[in-house]
Amino acid sequence: MDGNGRWATRRLLPRSAGHKLGADALQRLVRGCVQQGVAYLTVFAFSSENWNRPAEEVSALMELFVQTLGKETPGLMAQGVSLRFLGDPAPLPAQVQQLMRQAESTPVSEPRLRLNVALNYGGRWDIVQAARAAQAQDGEISEQSLARHLCLADIPEPDLLIRTGGEHRISNFLLWQLAYTELYFSNVLWPDFTEASLADAIADFARRERRFGRVPSKASSKGLRAA
Ligand code: IPE
Ligand code: MG
Repeated sequence: MDGNGRWATRRLLPRSAGHKLGADALQRLVRGCVQQGVAYLTVFAFSSENWNRPAEEVSALMELFVQTLGKETPGLMAQGVSLRFLGDPAPLPAQVQQLMRQAESTPVSEPRLRLNVALNYGGRWDIVQAARAAQAQDGEISEQSLARHLCLADIPEPDLLIRTGGEHRISNFLLWQLAYTELYFSNVLWPDFTEASLADAIADFARRERRFGRVPSKASSKGLRAA
């Protein structure tokens, strides 16, 4: 979800104002995913590298997580959206951790959309923690054992990655899980992302040919899993 800072700076607003509007864009994305029948959505809210931003911006983001989780969680559950977090929660403020645990422990029966929020997440961190767990629990590191211990090991790998804000990079998101994901880059700054932007991305995805190293077959948007 990239482009909040630039969105705000262009309007002579503090970067935190862009992040606030970014939270609204996430609400729209979730609604759009529910409408389009997307089964899984994983969003990158805060990376392990985002701690290197100015302290003021980091604390504004933490405050926004507290407010958004407190305010939006019940509405999400009512829409049939289950919530889960990935990343290392330990360095996050206690209040954020508590709201995360609360949201994760509220059961949603047969969720329409499973929303995963990456908070203090890094793809390299994920691979390292999975390798440690594979070694400790399985006594071996193989592709299969490592994959079993990654965050989100129990759900399918993403079909589509959408990156907004005009940058063409992965920035340490789900490095392992994205091996065969279709990549979609949008110049739209995250606060301007709408349900129509999502529909554009899905339409683009539907035209892709996914081969997974094999010979041609047609991409399908059925049962789409987006990152
Ligand atoms: C992404 O928007 C939001 C977070 C990392 C939380 P940015 O803050 O990276 O926005 P730009 O890239 O500076 O415009
Ligand atoms: Mg950015």
